Amino acid sequence: MCGIVGYVGTDRSVEVLLGGLRRLEYRGYDSAGIAVIGGDGELRIRKHAGKLQILVDDVERQAMPNGGTGIGHTRWATHGSPTDANAHPHLGDNGKLALIHNGIIENFAELKAELLTAHPDTVFTSETDSEVAAHLVGYAFQETGDVTQALRAVVAKLHGAFTLLVMHQDQPGVVVGARRNSPLVIGLGEGENFLASDVAAFVEHTRRALAIGQDQIVTITSRTVSVIDFDGGSVEPEEFEVTWDVSAAEKGGWSSFMAKEISEEPEAVANTLLGRSTGGEVRLPELAGDDDRLKDINRIVILGCGTASYSGLLGKYAIEKWARIPVEVELSHEFRYRDPVLDARTLVISISQSGETMDTLMAVQHAKKAGVHTISVCNTQGATIARESDAVIYTYAGPEIAVASTKAFVAQVAALYLFGLHLARVRGTLDAGESAALLDELKSVPAKLATVLEQHDRIRQLAHWMADTRAVLFLGRHVGFPVALEGALKLKELAYIHAEGFAAGELKHGPIALIEPGQPVFVIVPSPRGKDSLHPKVVSNIQEIKARGARVLVIAEAGDAAVLPYADEVFTIPLASTMFEPMLAVAPLQIFAMELAAAKGLDVDRPRNLAKSVTVE
Ligand code: F6R
Repeated sequence: MCGIVGYVGTDRSVEVLLGGLRRLEYRGYDSAGIAVIGGDGELRIRKHAGKLQILVDDVERQAMPNGGTGIGHTRWATHGSPTDANAHPHLGDNGKLALIHNGIIENFAELKAELLTAHPDTVFTSETDSEVAAHLVGYAFQETGDVTQALRAVVAKLHGAFTLLVMHQDQPGVVVGARRNSPLVIGLGEGENFLASDVAAFVEHTRRALAIGQDQIVTITSRTVSVIDFDGGSVEPEEFEVTWDVSAAEKGGWSSFMAKEISEEPEAVANTLLGRSTGGEVRLPELAGDDDRLKDINRIVILGCGTASYSGLLGKYAIEKWARIPVEVELSHEFRYRDPVLDARTLVISISQSGETMDTLMAVQHAKKAGVHTISVCNTQGATIARESDAVIYTYAGPEIAVASTKAFVAQVAALYLFGLHLARVRGTLDAGESAALLDELKSVPAKLATVLEQHDRIRQLAHWMADTRAVLFLGRHVGFPVALEGALKLKELAYIHAEGFAAGELKHGPIALIEPGQPVFVIVPSPRGKDSLHPKVVSNIQEIKARGARVLVIAEAGDAAVLPYADEVFTIPLASTMFEPMLAVAPLQIFAMELAAAKGLDVDRPRNLAKSVTVE
């Protein structure tokens, strides 16, 4: 979850590292630090607990000698509280070596004990697992005189997940990285090279990138990049071009990244659909050659965490309806520990915006070991989950910087619906006319979504009135249920308000006891049109809660008069058939959560205790 950046080039490490950390701060913001080998050949570090700005202010106040070699880190605390001492970089070899780390070294206690037996004078200044690695690499450097060899010797002893970057004062002009189950990419510049957890850290300098595989070590200088595996064998990394530029990762006049990202939802869906259909049929070139396999599967398991799992629920409704195949949705972290029944006819679809969520990565690896074909739905090019899956359907939502996911959700739903239509075609479960009509309707979502976003000011007003609210409930039925879950999650994580999402049919089985006069309840109401519409049932649920004094806040189709007598507020969505309603209904709830958090003076882009990509289990 921490953000890592490394640089070798001209004498501007301090600016490059601080700029890179600013773009990686979404990964963790408990502390930040940099290490630079100055023009005088001396290694110096600066690090501080708290947000990156504290470090930036310190570096500005007491200028730090610049140099051409450096590493930087922004932390999401695991071992040890967020203090100056626990901030990275950590030092080894009597202060001549600096190391930064993302992940968890599971056997650090044993390694520390061994280290203290071999070198009883070693002084530890932090409570972190990472400092153990710094000392280990430091002692290995004393034997080998080479950072790459020293790091290679140490990674062989580490258990767990890690990305490590190391530099040593006696080998200036070199930064070495190693990764296992934690992200690291290389940026290729002109006379300078970069290492980072995410391309966002260097995209303003270069869009040429190299992906590093699992259990590999990379050594960069200003002019060279070499990659080996943990056994020392040489590796040819795969080059890719970053398809977005730095302006996509800037706020561009919006009050927050989240406000900007919600405004980009129509585009996120449109870009995800772009070029993926022809003549009324979905075409997913990424699944070319898979038709026989897709005809043969008899079950799908969708994996994801948090928001991604809710888009997975919508994927389940669509895939089951259109392709007539059983689909289960499971939280990635529950999946592999319960010894799931898997066989060659199961298909696993993992969903991850970051493509680095450790729980989902582990679940995918578990499925692959069981011989299961895996497809990922991912928003980050070259991410680990995408690379480790047999195929990937990218969402093209663009970089999502705000910690809580918004535009990625609707893009994931679009990608899953494309997959559902593709599968239905391959399996012959929808006729061409039905399929073309659904595809057309999917393509109409971006324009409809843009009209939903026009209600932003009214939603902001409601959120401001409700800034003192202590609990909010969300009800939805069928495809409205995942929307209710997502609305509640957004409100919890952004505004720190207790919120629960319920299937509306479950109300009478318990949750209705929570309703008391004034209790705000959002209800996602399905369209009244269509012979099987659940509209009457949801309107009955509204009547039941209204009768008990609830404050009813409704998301309903424009023109739905049946809800008006009971609703205290109505936000409308344009006419859409059932499966597409959630892609429209979720935006008002995202805006509500964001605006309520803003009304409480909270940082909507960086909610407390969270990190954008959860790269620890
Ligand atoms: C909620 C949120 C999280 C993520 C979850 C999965 O707003 O952002 O629930 O959806 O941590 O992250 P990815 O999609 O990166 O695997």
